[in-house]
Amino acid sequence: MTVPSTGAPLVEVKGLRTHFTTDETTVQAVDGVDLTIRRGRTLCVVGESGCGKSVTARSILQLVEPPGRIVDGSILLHHPAEDGSSQPPVDLAALSPHGRRIRDIRGKDIAMIFQEPMSSLSLVHRVGSQIGEALRVHSDISRKEARRRAVELLGTVGIPDPAKRADAYPFQLSGGMCQRVMIAMALACDPALLIADEPTTALDVTTQAQIMDLLRGLQRETGMAIMFITHDMGVVAEMADDVAVMYLGTVVEKGPVDDVFHAPKHPYTRALLDSIPKIGSARRQRLPSIRGTVPDPARRPSGCVFHNRCAEFMPGRCDVTLPPPVAVAPDREVRCLLHGSTDDQPAAPATATSKEQR
Ligand SMILES: Nc1ncnc2c1ncn2[C@@H]1O[C@H](COP(=O)(O)OP(=O)(O)OP(=O)(O)O)[C@@H](O)[C@H]1O
Ligand SMILES: [Mg+2]
Repeated sequence: MTVPSTGAPLVEVKGLRTHFTTDETTVQAVDGVDLTIRRGRTLCVVGESGCGKSVTARSILQLVEPPGRIVDGSILLHHPAEDGSSQPPVDLAALSPHGRRIRDIRGKDIAMIFQEPMSSLSLVHRVGSQIGEALRVHSDISRKEARRRAVELLGTVGIPDPAKRADAYPFQLSGGMCQRVMIAMALACDPALLIADEPTTALDVTTQAQIMDLLRGLQRETGMAIMFITHDMGVVAEMADDVAVMYLGTVVEKGPVDDVFHAPKHPYTRALLDSIPKIGSARRQRLPSIRGTVPDPARRPSGCVFHNRCAEFMPGRCDVTLPPPVAVAPDREVRCLLHGSTDDQPAAPATATSKEQR
């Protein structure tokens, strides 16, 4: 019997391309993404709006809406059999979006909290029965047992008086409570991976901090992996073990969070880190923002897709050559012509405080 250890790859995304093609145009929303999500660890995927974070997450579960389609790449799920013995990985990218296999995996092996939480909760059903239904999709249990488990799960996610709250409708609960209900639903079948797409963006900072605490605590208890999507480097510092920085459909830099925060290699990563408010900085001081805007993904720039906004743009190189991924350390990769395997640049000074130093 093989029980995979914490840190072993659970999901490996390789060369993923997801495009939206219409008669007029093709939007290359995700265009060559490589990611590894490890057991028991949190991978934060970070980047500005429109860089392909949600489309990457939805691709993993084959939930991309037409005219979107995975056109290339693989998404390998390494999952032991029920008895714990190892079995060959399943390529989720090759499964039919409507087939039995992916429906079995959704919710049971991989659960997702969507960016718009209210769109996933029914307004006309009590929250306890919604969690109960999520349980009954994948296990053969009675309504009574489902109700008992639903109340237990509401308690697990920190909802006070869970037996009473199980009978509430979503509109009777606050935004933070609804987010906890969503997490309870996602946890119903004890998934190996929880994908959380900006789960705290709509919440006030105190509730945001509580939800992040809750997810970290649940991870310690259950050992689940988390893919946490955010546009906020401050949230990455709180949550991540590993980080992948996305820009215009590709991962431009990735690695363990401390390495990336202390020695960011890509100018885009450095610019995102500069946008975190620093303790001790003058109040009301404007944060530096990245110049320009993200280009239309249907009209990708030549060469490095970041070159027209980059503070370290090298004319004749960056606008011509697409930077290949370069391994700069173990588990650490960057796509930037400043970094080659032979002429790697010295690390930039530390620009932010990471999870470990809080
Ligand atoms: N149904 C669709 N049809 C056409 N293009 C789409 C569709 N859904 C997403 N896209 C495009 O794919 C790109 C990536 O979108 P995605 O939603 O993954 O961004 P994101 O990184 O999650 O942004 P945000 O931070 O705003 O949630 C965007 O340019 C978006 O316009
Ligand atoms: Mg999104």
